[in-house]
Amino acid sequence: MASPRPRLLLGQRQTPAVMARLQKDFTLFAVPETQMTPAELVAAAQEFRPDAIMVSTSLPVRAAEVAELPPSVRVIATVSVGTDHLDIPAILGRGIALSNTPDVLTDCNADLALLLILAASRRAAEYLDLMKKGWGRGLAMDEMLGCRVAGKTLGIIGMGRIGRAVAQRARGFGMKILYSNRRRLSADDEQGARYFATPEEMLPHCDILSLHLPASAASDGMINARMLSLLPRGAIFVNAARGALVDEDALIAALRDGHIAAAGLDVFRNEPTPDRRLVDLPNVFATPHVGSATMETRTDMGMLAVDNIEAALANRPLPTPVMA
Ligand code: 8YV
Repeated sequence: MASPRPRLLLGQRQTPAVMARLQKDFTLFAVPETQMTPAELVAAAQEFRPDAIMVSTSLPVRAAEVAELPPSVRVIATVSVGTDHLDIPAILGRGIALSNTPDVLTDCNADLALLLILAASRRAAEYLDLMKKGWGRGLAMDEMLGCRVAGKTLGIIGMGRIGRAVAQRARGFGMKILYSNRRRLSADDEQGARYFATPEEMLPHCDILSLHLPASAASDGMINARMLSLLPRGAIFVNAARGALVDEDALIAALRDGHIAAAGLDVFRNEPTPDRRLVDLPNVFATPHVGSATMETRTDMGMLAVDNIEAALANRPLPTPVMA
């Protein structure tokens, strides 16, 4: 007799190709319309007693949830590269394997960062608003002007896979690249980018600043009033990493005062209900945490999560484990 199919609790609906694989190879609990809350995830786990759970950044699994999971759970796979929504020591401490989805989202995340850089620099939010209202009259030669990106200096904080992919794209737009990172990259990886040991030393030289580092207790609120004041007046600020990196009150003040000319933001402190004072500013171009949101990438992320689950349940090494 064939062995029973493993039981998988899906916290979020996945793309059609991922769903087809899951429906073929796993016994699934009722698939949520969009996604579960942490309390719903715990209740479903207690009822269904799954072998594996799939979550993502908008479905946190903190110590309180981990403590309530039934002993059946052998692996949790997050469909994200970021792990700040997970209590890693609590999960691993219960002997539950944990995986994430690095690499497969690098290109799309970097593309989104470029979209934000261009949109903020070229006032896309204001132009879109004007067009939706009907345009109606010719603009003067000096009216609603943005900033040229060619020849400008882009500073990147966090030069991991995504930071490097952003640098590669930005070079194609004629930008000069500066970066600050915990460690200096090899000359091969730097590709001519100039290294700064601290963001503080780099900020005064940046026309555009883009964040590409993970959220952690150490990086929480690192972009505060003092750091923003180190940027030259009129700089562009972009964040496609994590909202928790930014003191949003300080950013709002800098955007209102014009010290920061414009911001392109994909991530916010309070998702999915970001601070309206920030999103409603005319010089903010905002997107709803969609760095990885293409069919191809979300499918690759889901497939990699399933590869990890299958490996864990077969007692094989995980392709992309999250370690302590
Ligand atoms: C989210 C992300 O996973 O991978 C990450 O860390 O932030 C994104 O790819 C995705 O937006 C779903 O929440």
